Order: sequence, then C-alpha cells, then structure tokens
Amino acid sequence: MSDRSGTIRVGLVGARGYTGAELVRLIDGHPGLELSYACSRAHAGDPVIDHIDHAPADLRFLEAEASTVGAQQADVCVLALPNDASARYVAAIDEACPDTVIVDLSADHRFDEDWAYGLCEQNADAIGASRRIANPGCYATAMQFATLPVLDLLGDVPPVFAGISGVSGAGSTPSPKNDPEVLHDNVLPYAPVGHVHEREVSHQLGRAVRFMPHVAPFFRGLSVSAALTLREPAMLSDIVERYTTWCADHPLVRTLETHTPTPRDGADTNGALIGGLAIGDDGRALGVTCAIDNLLKGAASQAIQNINLALGLDPLEGLMP
Ligand SMILES: NC(=O)c1ccc[n+]([C@@H]2O[C@H](COP(=O)([O-])OP(=O)(O)OC[C@H]3O[C@@H](n4cnc5c(N)ncnc54)[C@H](OP(=O)(O)O)[C@@H]3O)[C@@H](O)[C@H]2O)c1
Repeated sequence: MSDRSGTIRVGLVGARGYTGAELVRLIDGHPGLELSYACSRAHAGDPVIDHIDHAPADLRFLEAEASTVGAQQADVCVLALPNDASARYVAAIDEACPDTVIVDLSADHRFDEDWAYGLCEQNADAIGASRRIANPGCYATAMQFATLPVLDLLGDVPPVFAGISGVSGAGSTPSPKNDPEVLHDNVLPYAPVGHVHEREVSHQLGRAVRFMPHVAPFFRGLSVSAALTLREPAMLSDIVERYTTWCADHPLVRTLETHTPTPRDGADTNGALIGGLAIGDDGRALGVTCAIDNLLKGAASQAIQNINLALGLDPLEGLMP
C-alpha cells in the first residue's frame, strides 16, 4: 500500500488511451499521488515516458493481465478501459487487495448499486465512504450540472439535451466518430435515442430525459444545451440566483449567467461552466448550456477528485491551477 513517504500509489489500466494520458499528467502534478504502474497491451515493456509526457522516467508499461494488476497491491486502480472490459480487473483486485480503491471510467458500474456514483458535486459522502467508484460519463456530467440547480422546479415535460463534443470523446480506437474524412467540414449526429448517458442521467435524476449527441472536428471539449420546462413561471433573475447559489458550493463549477459557454471555453480546464441562461415568454421554457473538457471534468479530473474524496484528501488537491 502507500509507500514509506505516505505517497498514495495509483495504478492505471488503459494508460495509453486519451483519458489515460490525462491521468498520467494529473497524477504527476498531484502532491500526494504517484503512478506506480501503467498497463497497455499495445506498449507492454516500453518505457511509459516514450509514449506519454509526465510519466515517471523509470516506469515501463505492464501487460494488461488481470493477475498482474491484482499483484500490484496499489492503493488505487483507475480503469480507463472501453465498456465491458473492466470485470476481470475488478475480480482480480477483489481477490488480491479488496481495500484498493477502484475508479472505473467506463459505464460498466454506473448502474450498479454496490458502487458509488462518482459525480463529486452531488455524491461526495457516498464516494468518501466507498472503495468502488463509477466515474460518470462526460456528457452525463454536463447534463446533470445544467439541471441540478433547478431540478426541484421542473414540471412533467422531460428535459431535452443536445450535445456536441470533439473527436476525443470517441476514444482513440478508429471509428466513424473520429474519422477525419467523415468529420472534415462536418458534424456527425449519432445515437439519437438510447445513448448510455441518456440512461445514466435518467437513472440519476429519477426522471426520463432525452439526449442527442453530435461530434464535431475539434479535438477536446463538449457542450450540452438543455431545454428545460419549469412547473411554474419564473423570473430570469431568480433562475440566475439559483445557479449562482449552487455554483458557490461547488468550486469547480462556475456560472457565466446569461453568457453562453462554448466547448472551447471548457477545454483544458478541470472545471465546468454553466451559462446561456434564458427564459421564454411563458416564463416556463428555460435554456441553459454547460461546457466541460470531456477528458478532464468529464473523465480524468473527476477521477482525481473521486480519488481525493475516497482517500480523505482535500477534494481539490492536484486540481487547482
Ligand atoms: N474519451 C472521453 O472523452 C471519455 C470521457 C469520459 C469517459 N470515458 C470513458 O473512459 C474509458 C476510456 O476512454 P478513452 O477515450 O481513454 O479510450 P481510448 O483512448 O480508446 O483508450 C482505451 C484504453 O484501453 C486499452 N484497452 C482497450 N481495450 C482493452 C481491453 N479489452 N483490455 C484491456 N485494455 C484495453 C487501450 O490500450 P491497449 O490497447 O494498449 O491495451 C487504451 O489504453 C472508456 O470507457 C470511455 O467511455 C471517455
């Protein structure tokens, strides 16, 4: 477990991917964490630093074997794997070192009641009491930030979200969603019904939502624009006050009030921006936009925040400029 200096040892499975590389950088900049192992099938045996900046100079990629991961006995293991790939690693850690904190970036445990749902701003107590944490989806994070400050004011009309993200949201494995030919001068709508983040947000908010994602030819960042319907007419100033008050309690989330954040505004930051607040003539139609970096607050920064909470550190350790 933690070494003699008290540094917390973090292992990373899926380290050569987009979110893995961000985690290597954030762990390097975190005063209490050290990267103790990193797994990659493609690069096993190579020095990690040959592929990812900010990696420890003496670390080589390990094979991504479940038994190898279990044998490392780290304090924390982050799984940055595609969906449906986590089970054998979780089983190996359960068997070899059950006290290890696992943070799973995939959707595999977001509907599992034995795991804490890792939306830090909403669920800090459960995360702090858990060793098994399901990191939220990137779009799901932004959708919930756009909605939570006014959730109790919504009527029966289902919230509708339109999302747009850069190509890194699709991961580094080639697909139409990150194909430069498809995306050249273009935007690609996909999964208009049943996206896993639609199910995730419906599950978390306890009410059905609709979500339509799009991918565009920039690398990182996303925004979600929400069409919400209030139960009773409200004044814009009261709604702005709601978001301002909510953000005051959550230092990584900032409101721009009526100014609309774009994906670029949220890119390369550890936090989230909520803005574009607007009320329709009927006083009930509410528009709001949230922008985050899909690889950071949508994945790696949120994972660090979860590690901090699970280990009793300052929740923002390693995340402020
Ligand atoms: N990209 C985003 O914006 C984002 C945001 C939030 C959450 N997430 C989630 O985070 C996870 C990682 O996303 P990513 O974008 O970093 O993906 P990625 O770039 O495609 O990387 C996937 C990583 O997993 C490894 N891998 C792939 N299949 C594996 C398997 N069957 N067994 C073991 N290792 C395997 C790959 O390395 P090797 O092939 O070398 O082993 C690679 O390091 C996904 O579940 C994704 O949905 C992504």
